[in-house]
Amino acid sequence: MSQKIEFPKNFLWGAATASYQIEGACIADGKGESIWDRFSHTPGKIANGDTGDIACNHYHLYKNDVKLMKEIGLKGYRFSIAWPRIFPDGKGNPNIKGMDFYKRLVDQLLENDIVPAVTLYHWDLPQKLQDLGGWLNRDTTDYYAEYAAYIFKELGDQIPIWITHNEPWVVSHLGHAQGIHAPGLKDFKKALQAAHHLLLSHGKAVQIFRQSNLKGDIGITFNMPYVYPASDSAADKEAAARKFEYSMNWFTDPVLKGHYPERLYEWYKNKNILPELDLDDLRTISQPVDFMGLNYYSSEIAKHDPSEWPNEAAWVSMGRSVTDMGWQIVPEGLHDLLVKLNRDYNGIKIYITENGAAFNDIVTPEGRVKDDQRIDYLEKHFAEANKAIQAGVNLAGYFVWSLLDNFEWAEGYAKRFGMVYVDYETQKRTVKDSGYWFKKVAESNCLEL
Ligand code: BGC
Repeated sequence: MSQKIEFPKNFLWGAATASYQIEGACIADGKGESIWDRFSHTPGKIANGDTGDIACNHYHLYKNDVKLMKEIGLKGYRFSIAWPRIFPDGKGNPNIKGMDFYKRLVDQLLENDIVPAVTLYHWDLPQKLQDLGGWLNRDTTDYYAEYAAYIFKELGDQIPIWITHNEPWVVSHLGHAQGIHAPGLKDFKKALQAAHHLLLSHGKAVQIFRQSNLKGDIGITFNMPYVYPASDSAADKEAAARKFEYSMNWFTDPVLKGHYPERLYEWYKNKNILPELDLDDLRTISQPVDFMGLNYYSSEIAKHDPSEWPNEAAWVSMGRSVTDMGWQIVPEGLHDLLVKLNRDYNGIKIYITENGAAFNDIVTPEGRVKDDQRIDYLEKHFAEANKAIQAGVNLAGYFVWSLLDNFEWAEGYAKRFGMVYVDYETQKRTVKDSGYWFKKVAESNCLEL
């Protein structure tokens, strides 16, 4: 017997993208260089030597892409603004032509009744600011606040959902400790410094937003797995708690509670990897937000392992099947995480701002993409999200990653996350089966299992 799972009224069904991953047009209309332009052009950094120079050429094809959004039933669309399009040098005089692109895009979305959700920073820092130290330089927080103020002024009341930052964990740790993302640094202490400045810049933007009296909601997007302990032993439980604190609380607690997680703070201090952090900043960082964005892809099991520096916790396989990224498929982790966030942060409103999967899609000779694995992945995650709603979680919407196949950072174009297939040679788009499936869910506001 089929089962119908309904979502709350006005639930916002959407899809997400990010500027560097889809726009291309890397020097068009006065755009400045970003750290991802620089990083992707550095030999050996990106699989196959791919770059975002052309990507999905969305900068020129946006009208067509909005039509596709309509075709697959999107009610909301989350995209990011490329800071170096607006301020080619990161600060100073704005580049009007760059701003005009986003105004045209927003007009197009509104004409099609698609709710725009804007991310101010999805990793493409102006290279000129990196030359001054990037997120390690406290001044960057002020330049970011000036950039945010300008965007608020220009797009103002047209945008109901604002996201200051996408995944500060990734920016700080993959970019500054592991070196696999721009700017490619490998220093844990610097990652914590960058994280502090990212959070501070978030707080400054929220302050400006409130002063501007705009109607929309503002929040920030975090990414994290649910972390299960490998056993009931105290050591494994503590290892799992540390992994949680490392990927989640280090970011969520400052914003939502106004302090760093104490145990991990002491842990890093004892290991001598805590930078000088001005704790007075936490007052700015913890400006009240209207919602939390959650990007969820996978969950993990952690066990105590003293050889794993600095958290002394190692990941253990859950034995699940994996996506093309090698990430384990753990739908119930989404439920568990939502319930935990709801409990730990007082029923805060949450949007899932990203969830999705990469699979090795192919276009059949008849021009179809039969991505059943993606449909299965999404269906299971939507169902778990619904279970969390039934358990009382204040979940307001769900943005699938991603609208289009796109430039998957260090993995280049090899990984396909889209509900729409992109042939990078011809820029031809083909709606995948998952796109049509999504349309049914979004339009009926319910899952039929
Ligand atoms: C990011 C996206 C990315 C996706 C899949 C998230 O970490 O926000 O930009 O493409 O995950 O890796």
